[in-house]
Amino acid sequence: MERLRFFLNDRPVEETGLSPTTTLLRYLRDRAHLSGTKEGCAEGDCGACSVAVLEHDGQGAPALRAVNACLVLLPMVQGKRVYTVEALKEGGKYHLVQETLARELGSQCGYCTPGVAMSMLEACHRRDMDEPWKLDAQMCGNLCRCTGYRPIRDAAQRVAGQRPQDRFARALAETQPESMALAYEAGAQRYFTPGTLEALWDVLEKHPDARFVVGGTDLSLEVTKKYAEPPLLVSLEALPELRALEPREGGHRVGATVRLTDLEDYARAACPPMERMLRYFGSRQIKNRATVGGNLCTASPIGDLAPVLLALGAEAVVRSRAGERRMSMEDFFQGYRRTALKRGEVLACVDVPAQPAGARALSYKVSKRRELDISSVSAGFRVVVNGEGKVTEARLAYGGMAATPSRARHTEAALVGRPWTEATVEEALSRLDEDFKPLTDHRGSAWYRAQVAKNLLRGFFLETQQSPTPRLAEGHTATVQVR
Ligand code: FES
Ligand code: FES
Repeated sequence: MERLRFFLNDRPVEETGLSPTTTLLRYLRDRAHLSGTKEGCAEGDCGACSVAVLEHDGQGAPALRAVNACLVLLPMVQGKRVYTVEALKEGGKYHLVQETLARELGSQCGYCTPGVAMSMLEACHRRDMDEPWKLDAQMCGNLCRCTGYRPIRDAAQRVAGQRPQDRFARALAETQPESMALAYEAGAQRYFTPGTLEALWDVLEKHPDARFVVGGTDLSLEVTKKYAEPPLLVSLEALPELRALEPREGGHRVGATVRLTDLEDYARAACPPMERMLRYFGSRQIKNRATVGGNLCTASPIGDLAPVLLALGAEAVVRSRAGERRMSMEDFFQGYRRTALKRGEVLACVDVPAQPAGARALSYKVSKRRELDISSVSAGFRVVVNGEGKVTEARLAYGGMAATPSRARHTEAALVGRPWTEATVEEALSRLDEDFKPLTDHRGSAWYRAQVAKNLLRGFFLETQQSPTPRLAEGHTATVQVR
């Protein structure tokens, strides 16, 4: 069996005998004695554990990405370069982000500070910090209980995009992508990262009950919160075939293991309704690890990507050793947390078709808090209106309203063939109660959910009067922005 191999603050590390579900955070603090990285929540919410990982994207371009070490399992950094807060000071000199954070008085008790500094480090080396909202999106995954966010934000703003000639710049220039392929075993646990599809099919033939993992932002919670020790995990992270992100026949192919930050960048120009949903999907650290396939394959009724993909008419492409099959997103979700994937199959990608002429499309997320929260209700809408102003197609998809992300078929039917007017929308909304009988839980009562679902469609009608796919305004407070 192979060893775990990676670089920690530029030093090569090799390990055996450690559980493959050891989190990077536990490893850093308990084994590597790098206790600068802190533990707050151990569930990806506070950012105290942020470290930077040098990653190569689907096109092979290197970037430093801030990630939550509490959600990263050790085999997930196989072949990669990991940097902790201890790597910032070089040759006795503090790094630009440390100096700036101190000068701006961005630290009091200091507990959040190492994580804040590592998120700032990502901002410091990003080339695309060209709009103010990107600063909020970069830093929203770092909670601070005592300093107040103004000084932290000021410090982050000063360093964003500075790209000093530091050790990280050298690593970005010199590091070549290394294979993540791994077959690792410790005690009763095994972890495979196949490097080719053939190797994947071989693993699945031998272990048809293996659980899949990629970013680990969901699965790792079982480890940190329930102390689970999954006996066998198969990571799909090293398969280039699952990481496509490209235009295709007028639409877009989105690979199952595309990270959400990459998809958000791509969707900004290519698919604004998807970008809007991704803005409040989670923190930068989460989106740097979470993937499209992970979000869809959990088949959660409140998975944020599902409604928008349902509305846009996307298809799931599923692969196995036997070949490929395609299905609508509606057919992909079979029930509460159940997908159409059979043994030996993986979700390879999602094909989002070109949007028809006359289409108006948007997505919405409503949660108790703007950042880092789970949807109470989410929605993706696409309505196609012809030259005479009549609705020729309506796809209204909701999350949080039923056991699976689902379309509102009765309401859709009440729109089609009718003029696209406020009166039509109001009339059609009376059918929404036939489509859904939402639950009451701690995120919202059934009444609240039903009202919000209706108001989102009203908002969609109003918001798309000026533009078929309006963008979020600068300074918005939510994806809902009808005034
Ligand atoms: Fe809070 Fe990791 S410890 S995000
Ligand atoms: Fe105390 Fe941020 S400085 S938590």
